[in-house]
Amino acid sequence: MTEKKPFYITTPIYYPSAKLHIGHAYCTTIADSIARFHRLIGEDVFFLTGSDEHGQKIQQKAEEAGVTPIEYVDKIVAGFQNLWKRLNISNDDFIRTTQKRHERVVQEIFNRIYAKGDIYKGSYKGLYCTPCESYWTEHQLDENGCCPDCHRPVQEVSEEAYFFKMSKYADRVLQYIEDHPDFIQPVSRRNEMINFIKQGLDDLCISRTSFDWGIPVPIDLKHVIYVWFDALTNYLTPIGFLDDPEKFQKYWPADLHLVGKEIVRFHTIIWPCILMALDLPLPKKVYGHGWLIVDGDKMSKSKGNVVDPNGLIDEFGADAIRYFLLREINLGQDGNFSRDALIQRINSDLANDLGNLLHRTLNMTIKFQDGVLLAPEGESEVDKSLKADAKETVDFFKKNMQDMQLSATIKKVWAFISRANKYIDETTPWALAKDSEKKQELANVMYNLAESLRVISVLISPFMPVTAERIWKQLNLPQAFKDVQIEDIESWGGVPAGLKVGEPEQLFPRIEVEKEEAEKPAKKAKQEKAAKQKKTEKKEEVPGVIGIEDFGKVALRVAEVVAAEPVPKADKLLKLQLSLGEGQPQRQVVSGIAKFYQPDELVGKHVVLVVNLKPAKLRGVVSEGMILAASDGKGLKVLEVNMPAGTEVR
Ligand code: ME8
Ligand code: MG
Repeated sequence: MTEKKPFYITTPIYYPSAKLHIGHAYCTTIADSIARFHRLIGEDVFFLTGSDEHGQKIQQKAEEAGVTPIEYVDKIVAGFQNLWKRLNISNDDFIRTTQKRHERVVQEIFNRIYAKGDIYKGSYKGLYCTPCESYWTEHQLDENGCCPDCHRPVQEVSEEAYFFKMSKYADRVLQYIEDHPDFIQPVSRRNEMINFIKQGLDDLCISRTSFDWGIPVPIDLKHVIYVWFDALTNYLTPIGFLDDPEKFQKYWPADLHLVGKEIVRFHTIIWPCILMALDLPLPKKVYGHGWLIVDGDKMSKSKGNVVDPNGLIDEFGADAIRYFLLREINLGQDGNFSRDALIQRINSDLANDLGNLLHRTLNMTIKFQDGVLLAPEGESEVDKSLKADAKETVDFFKKNMQDMQLSATIKKVWAFISRANKYIDETTPWALAKDSEKKQELANVMYNLAESLRVISVLISPFMPVTAERIWKQLNLPQAFKDVQIEDIESWGGVPAGLKVGEPEQLFPRIEVEKEEAEKPAKKAKQEKAAKQKKTEKKEEVPGVIGIEDFGKVALRVAEVVAAEPVPKADKLLKLQLSLGEGQPQRQVVSGIAKFYQPDELVGKHVVLVVNLKPAKLRGVVSEGMILAASDGKGLKVLEVNMPAGTEVR
């Protein structure tokens, strides 16, 4: 037997400073689906997730809670593991940075790089807030140059620290990124990183003495190792870096580090420098996925809009959540989570399209053929076209899942589900059943439907593993579901003739919403479907490119500034009263332009207003829209238009 191709995939290890939210679940679900796909195509997958448990922030949280740091993280990490179990995450290991196996790795790595001369002792200059015991960098400070947490003044201090010579590796990392177009994805992130390195890399401070919740520097125990140096090396620990050379040889370099876009820099600059210092090969790919926002807003504790995945699983089940996250959001882009959209997807795609196909197929098989699928003979044109579509869908799946086109793949599978539903309408089995001459034709139709469902079950298994297996079991297929491989659906006819199907069980109950509410989404769904069909597949493959219908969502009008005044205690903000023309209600908008305009200067200007932005409160003042301005980071000018207030801008 030939060796299986190894595939090593990781998620970020999340901070146990608080419970995980839907954003973390999103990332881990993506990784899980990719891991499951690679197992399906026969690869030897190692899928790692875990927790990043050290650092000052965690120490503080534990102190606030009145427990020791390890007690604090133990409890939260148990919650991580429970969530992954409930979401059916198929990770092969779970790394905790507080584990002994990891401490040994981090200290060994420090020693090796130190011995090589790439770590030296220096002094770390920072801005320190004594009451908060926190170091800040210049750009983290609040608008008055004070501590962003308590808003008291900070002091410049320096402490002895160890530094890693990143500057030495800058050119090599840049070269690597330029020579390996696939290393950083999507492309937009790659360009950002290239620009970042071209501005020059500073050596990295990798130790702290101001707190002690961390792995000690092995040669100087009053220092602890910087959390990111500790965290990044997690990827080496479970694959035998120190204790299993064969395993390490097999899985390193990683095939894919899946991370959120905000930490691409750590993974494509700092991490490669560390690996180069260790003379280890670099990971094959770092993919920076976009962020989930909730009903159009960034999640934050203060806004109280943090979505707890556990509550959603209780309500809708894991597979529905997984389906929504993977289907609704294009991987490289930010995406919106909304309960309404989730319910709409469950009702239309899961309860309707998929649920009905299964239900109709099993029911008719039971009703017309005593539940037995008979051997097919001959084929009609419609049968041929169904089979050709199945094949095309399987081919699309194989290619696009390799390319991480999850959403596009799901859409394609659902197009096949619709096609199979249409096949029922085209072949009208209920009519065939009435005609004793059409027995074989009926047998063919029922067989083809069951076979379609068998294929569909495998195609949805990376995304909805539980539902996939439920379909498999309802079909009563003899093959063990866990042993199924892609080859099993590459040719038509895997359902054994004579198979007696099981009893139909509902996969997804419809979620009932109030009647008028229910009509709205249905209409919207239709419109959206039509709009989406117009979009070309290609457009969706280019991250950052939007269609005209996306731009069309923004409503812009010319507005006249009729009054302007400063917002108390906010030296960047001005409160503007805007007229949208006679007979229109005035709008109040809070705008961050106080540093660039005297309030009086603005009165009478005709500016451009985004009129359909959700109202927000800034420093307690309501803002109903946003005015457009051009900024180069130093100066700023509002956009002015010589047209009457109320004029539409397109
Ligand atoms: O950064 N939308 O951990 P973290 C989508 N410990 N994904 C989101 C998200 C959102 N709104 N919010 C978080 C850390 N994520 C470090 C990582 S790795 C060596 C160390 C996901 O708990 C996304 O994948 O802040 C992001 O990169 C990750 O959670 C950050 O988790
Ligand atoms: Mg974070």
